[in-house]
Amino acid sequence: MCGIVAYVGPQDAAPILLEGLQRLEYRGYDSAGLVVSARGSLKLRKVKGRVADLASAVPARFKGNLGIGHTRWATHGEPSDVNAHPHLSNDQRIAVVHNGIIENADELRAKLTADGAEFASETDSEVLAHLIARTVADTANLSEAVRLALKRIVGTYGIAVVDAQRPGEVVVARNGSPIVLGLGEKEMFAASDVAALVRYTRQVVHLEDGELAVIKADGFTTFTMDARETAKEPLVVDWDAGHYDTGGYAHYLLKEISEQPETLARTLRGRIDDRFHIAHLGGLNLTPHETRAFRRVKIIGCGSAYYSGQIGAQLIEELARIPADAEPASEFRYRNPVVEHDTLYVAISQSGETYDTLAAVQELKRKGGRVLGIVNTVGSAIARECGGGIYLHAGPEVSVASTKAFTSTAAAFALLALHFGRVRDLSPAHGRRICDGLRRLPGQIEEILAGGERIAALAAKYAHHPSMMFVGRVRGYPVAREGAQKLKEISYIHAEAYPASELKHGPLALIGPETPTVALVPDDELLDKNLTTLGEIRARGGNVLMVGHRQVDPKLADDVILVPKNEPELDPILLSIPLQIFAYHAAVALDRDVDRPRNLAKSVTVE
Ligand code: F6R
Repeated sequence: MCGIVAYVGPQDAAPILLEGLQRLEYRGYDSAGLVVSARGSLKLRKVKGRVADLASAVPARFKGNLGIGHTRWATHGEPSDVNAHPHLSNDQRIAVVHNGIIENADELRAKLTADGAEFASETDSEVLAHLIARTVADTANLSEAVRLALKRIVGTYGIAVVDAQRPGEVVVARNGSPIVLGLGEKEMFAASDVAALVRYTRQVVHLEDGELAVIKADGFTTFTMDARETAKEPLVVDWDAGHYDTGGYAHYLLKEISEQPETLARTLRGRIDDRFHIAHLGGLNLTPHETRAFRRVKIIGCGSAYYSGQIGAQLIEELARIPADAEPASEFRYRNPVVEHDTLYVAISQSGETYDTLAAVQELKRKGGRVLGIVNTVGSAIARECGGGIYLHAGPEVSVASTKAFTSTAAAFALLALHFGRVRDLSPAHGRRICDGLRRLPGQIEEILAGGERIAALAAKYAHHPSMMFVGRVRGYPVAREGAQKLKEISYIHAEAYPASELKHGPLALIGPETPTVALVPDDELLDKNLTTLGEIRARGGNVLMVGHRQVDPKLADDVILVPKNEPELDPILLSIPLQIFAYHAAVALDRDVDRPRNLAKSVTVE
């Protein structure tokens, strides 16, 4: 979503803020702005558009050693110069940037207006500037003014605040929207994402919900909403600035698709035991006794994370024979779920900050549920909230559309299912088959990537269709859902995913020459059933692009993409890769903004 950067130290703030905003642009990007503080006054620039537009609007002489910046993804008020952050108080003393949603903004706006405040924007965030300006007049320090103002806020926030009259400090606070402090040499940073910090420091401190911090050039203090100081231990992040470059690829998405042999290998590294054919997952914090006691597994996540959870549920059922299912976290949290003590809950998140997933985990914990996390971002809110889990180690995912985190999550589930299976009733021989299969995956992904040009040609062939159908059976169904999701989000081609078995119960009515079908047809026990479905589609004049393991009668498929065969349980991981490549090239053929699809943002930290 929106991005925040703050700096205080000996350097010129503006170039550091602009560089940080550039790194955060993938989170949200309809407008951008910054404020620097110099000689008792605030200098502001904000524009509708990209960070590059902001950089051109900032004059060379825009000096100041302290500042805050923001990239915005509109929630309240359309994208425009005035609605861009930072927002200033009427006396130009206080500047605020805000991520999140203030639910009582209308009520506060009415009160502040009655009290003489003049609002410049339509945003909910601007109330913060006016509220803090009023409290700062009555208190001796900015942090106290921010704390008191926040007590009047209902909603979520990650904020950074500067006061023209206190040129040595920035106050930040978090409630539902991430804030990370970056510790430098006689300088301090803060941001909504470590991406903005890694060029300058890898020593970070994550704020918890309900925490505030004052950052100054020589250090920081953190405290609670009750003004109690808190003690924080810095973490060292193992991602550096190079992880955030396109590395010579045309787009981050292509880079991240291409990285998958390596990222998947990192997820598996050190976790497969070839002697006992088990998985070592030290972070789970579960004894064998506890592992045997669970009677169900419930997986939650949003979007692509949820689809990878569907793959995970099937792996757990197949390998561990524990009933398992996946549900969107965004639905789960609102339906007052029955939380059982003998169910293990697993929350999935690449960013570790998706608000719906975080809120679902918190609800589960309130009700006594045991929750594991499968998370990519070390130290993120969901990782901290879960009692244990598996880190993906896939490296930062920058492109809005998830690819490498999806395959790494599926691989992490294979490890989890293997672990549960071997603690319960999976035979060593079956365990060995899965261990061998997991080891083959990175090389097999290489093979699929090597065929990228042909998939690009097929994507160009199909990209002019306004709508496409994706079908798969059982293990293939979550792959179909993720394939449709990738295509629609980056190419804007309408795409529907259905279980192949459901086609004749309704959606077959959509099939015709204008709506081609991408069919997942692995060489497994359901092959014959899938071939029958292809026949039904072709009989209705529908074109078929098949993704599978062997050539079929040309009457059944117009085009075939072959992938290497692994163990049937692991095939979904490999079948997903051609669909990512297909979606990427369809989007390129249609000249879409691949890494920044319209209306979407990476890491959805609002409700
Ligand atoms: C789709 C996509 C989203 C995310 C979803 C969850 O390509 O990226 O559907 O998967 O917003 O995000 P995380 O995994 O960060 O919780």
